[in-house]
Amino acid sequence: MKFSVEQEFLLEQEVDALVLGVYQQPVFHGVIKQLDDIFNGQLTELAKSKDIHYKVKKVSSIHTLGAIGAKRLIFVGLGKEQELTFDDLRAVFGKVSKTVKEFSLQKIGVAVDTFINEAISAEDVAHALSEATTMSLYSFEGYKQKSNEPEKMVEEMVLYTDTDGDDVKAALEVGYAHGRGTNSARTLVNIPGNMLTATKLAEYALELADKYGFESEILEKEQMEELGMGALLAVNQGSTEPPKMIVLKYRGKDEWKDVIGLVGKGITFDTGGYSIKPKDGIVGMKTDMGGAAAVLGAMEVIGELRPEQNVVAVIPSTDNMVSGNAFKPDDVITSMSGKTIEVLNTDAEGRLALADAMTYAKHHGANYLVDVATLTGGVIVALGYDKTGALTNNEEMFEQMLEASYEAGEFMWRLPYTESDRKRVRKSPVADLNNSPGRDGHAIFGGAFVGEFAEGTPWVHLDIAGTATTTSPHDLGPKGATGAMVRTLALFVERFETINK
Ligand code: BES
Ligand code: ZN
Ligand code: ZN
Repeated sequence: MKFSVEQEFLLEQEVDALVLGVYQQPVFHGVIKQLDDIFNGQLTELAKSKDIHYKVKKVSSIHTLGAIGAKRLIFVGLGKEQELTFDDLRAVFGKVSKTVKEFSLQKIGVAVDTFINEAISAEDVAHALSEATTMSLYSFEGYKQKSNEPEKMVEEMVLYTDTDGDDVKAALEVGYAHGRGTNSARTLVNIPGNMLTATKLAEYALELADKYGFESEILEKEQMEELGMGALLAVNQGSTEPPKMIVLKYRGKDEWKDVIGLVGKGITFDTGGYSIKPKDGIVGMKTDMGGAAAVLGAMEVIGELRPEQNVVAVIPSTDNMVSGNAFKPDDVITSMSGKTIEVLNTDAEGRLALADAMTYAKHHGANYLVDVATLTGGVIVALGYDKTGALTNNEEMFEQMLEASYEAGEFMWRLPYTESDRKRVRKSPVADLNNSPGRDGHAIFGGAFVGEFAEGTPWVHLDIAGTATTTSPHDLGPKGATGAMVRTLALFVERFETINK
């Protein structure tokens, strides 16, 4: 998609549609007034008859019959001027793109200044527009033999505004990068497990490294054995697919210090292992690498926007299978950190894979750790499908994450993490830790287990088991993978301020 900025509204410029925001207002002003005059007050009449409506996200489209350069005018309601938020604006543009797609419109003009209010600048409008449009037009091709005619897609957007063009362009780029990173993560999650193995995921990461100049390292099984990554290896034991530990490094500072570690669960398919999932619960487990996808999506955004931060991404990847070689309940395994783990449930595999990845991220110099994972069904019971569950050992770091999530419009809610939770994961007659203390409050224990491997390093845990996918289409995309946390992680990194530990 191509975006451009024009410093003034060009009446005669030919576009398939001109998009205008309509606040609840006594009379039209600005560009809409100008158009109303051209149409001899007919727009005011249409507003009176509610054919043009100010209700938030209400879209009305009228044909101009050649009166001006734009073939259509698309009006979208914005509600009361004091009330519209940045997040609402994203939803508004998501809605508009659906109309644009419905009519197969390809070149769109946007009257940016009709969307501005006291809290929303022209730059914000540009950001929301490019991000929401990119996200909402996403689709996953799938693998049907007979694909439909390729759909006509929006190719170009021209933004008209009085505000400085360079600032608006920069904001467009930021939103566009966030949108594309999110869509890449969605695609990774939507690809089935037979096609997205750990090996393929590693290849994808190397392509990103190549494109953006990240340093990279892919650990093979032998190297994991040498490093003593007994936890990740245990999960892989039942598989015929080799495991991979994927590392990408982005250097945004002269020195390799204040390093943010992004650790993403990369289970390409989770059968549950010998603690096998029931037939209904196993379907959909191709999405168990949603954390890895979020981290890779965020790395794409980081590669595009190049913030002055140091980031190391670490992704432990394997599937979790059953076979004569598979690990079993009662097994005791030794993680890279040296901590031993009693396996009580082979379906609590994510935390095992993450354990070694956390240790390895620290090994690569991470001073701050974020892990992202489709970790527990428990988080869905606790928070539903629209809130990511969080846990932390550092208030300040969590504040920054929460701030980023608000800005991204990706909700999260913090779960308690107390001494008694730490005690529960440390309770075992034979090992330092157990991987499954029981069903009560198990979203907390999943996180608490991973926290054992942060070992005092400031850390935030994000459980996206509920938010990584959705069963119904929404303003910003279709059903299926959502790309949850890509934008939150990217914003967190962009804005990150070091913490006095
Ligand atoms: N991958 C699952 C969690 C999951 C559930 C993700 C639903 C997406 C949707 C995870 O590995 C798992 O099986 N967790 C168990 C943990 C339990 C055994 C302590 C769970 O949540 O039941
Ligand atoms: Zn599992
Ligand atoms: Zn899992």
